[in-house]
Amino acid sequence: MRAKSNLLETPYWDQEWGKWFSRYSLGYPRLGVWLRLNYSRLCNTYLELGAGSGRESRYLAQFADQVSCVDFSPSVVELLKNSNPPHNLHAHVMNAFSLDLPDKTFDLSFHKGFWSYFESDDDIAMLFREQLRVTKQYLIILVHNASNTRMVADFGKKAVNDDLYNVRFFQPNKLKEHLERQLSTLSVSATLRLRKFGGLDRIYRLPCQPCLLGLRDVLLANTYRFLPWSWAESIAVEVKLDGGT
Ligand SMILES: C[S@@+](CC[C@H](N)C(=O)[O-])C[C@H]1O[C@@H](n2cnc3c(N)ncnc32)[C@H](O)[C@@H]1O
Repeated sequence: MRAKSNLLETPYWDQEWGKWFSRYSLGYPRLGVWLRLNYSRLCNTYLELGAGSGRESRYLAQFADQVSCVDFSPSVVELLKNSNPPHNLHAHVMNAFSLDLPDKTFDLSFHKGFWSYFESDDDIAMLFREQLRVTKQYLIILVHNASNTRMVADFGKKAVNDDLYNVRFFQPNKLKEHLERQLSTLSVSATLRLRKFGGLDRIYRLPCQPCLLGLRDVLLANTYRFLPWSWAESIAVEVKLDGGT
C-alpha cells in the first residue's frame, strides 16, 4: 500500500474538491437522514468534522437550530459558502486536531470517512479527544468497516489508480477497545456502542415516487441494524456522554 501522507495535506484536498464538489453535493444525504431519524428529537446543534461537501449538514440544517461544518481545506469551505447554504449552516476552515471552538458547544458532532485517512492510532486518539471536548451529548463516528471484505477488495483495486480509495478499514471491536481506552484515560463517563450503517445502497438508485421517499428513508435507516457486519458499509460508533439526554 502506498504512503498516505499527501492525503493529510490541504493541497491534496483542495485539488480533489475542485473536481468532485458539485457531483458529491448532489448525492443523497443518507447519513443526514439517518442522523435526523435517530437523534433529532434529542439534539438541535450539530458539528460535522472533515465535512467536505457538507452534504449531510445541509440536509440536517432543515431540522436543526444550528449546524457547523469544519474542514481544513480552504477551497472546499469556499465552495460550500458559495453554494447558497441555508442561513443556519456555518462553514469554517479549521484543523480538527485543534478546533477554534469552546468546550461543549454542540449537542452532536459527527463525521463520515474522515478518520479513514489516518493510519496512526495516536492521531485517532487526538482527533477523538478534540471532538469530545467540543461535544455536549453525542459523538457519531463513521469509518470504513474491515468486516466488509467485498468492499475492502473493491477499494484495493480502485486505490491502484486513485489515492482517494487508499483508506484505512477499521475492525469494529479493535476500534471500540481503542476508544474505550481513551475514555477511561480521560476519565470521561460515557456509553459507547457500535452501530451499522449502509450496505443497501443499490436501493437508493432505484426509481422511487416522490411521495414514497420519506417511507423509503425510514425503512432503510431502520434496516441497517439487521444486516450482518459483513454487509455494513461503515461502522457507526455512538458515544453518548453521561449527563446528556
Ligand atoms: C473523505 S473526505 C469527507 C467527505 C465528507 N464526509 C463529505 O460528505 O463530503 C475527508 C475530508 O477531511 C478533510 N480533512 C482532512 N484532514 C483534516 C483535518 N486535519 N482537519 C479538518 N479537515 C480535514 C479533507 O479536506 C476532506 O474534505
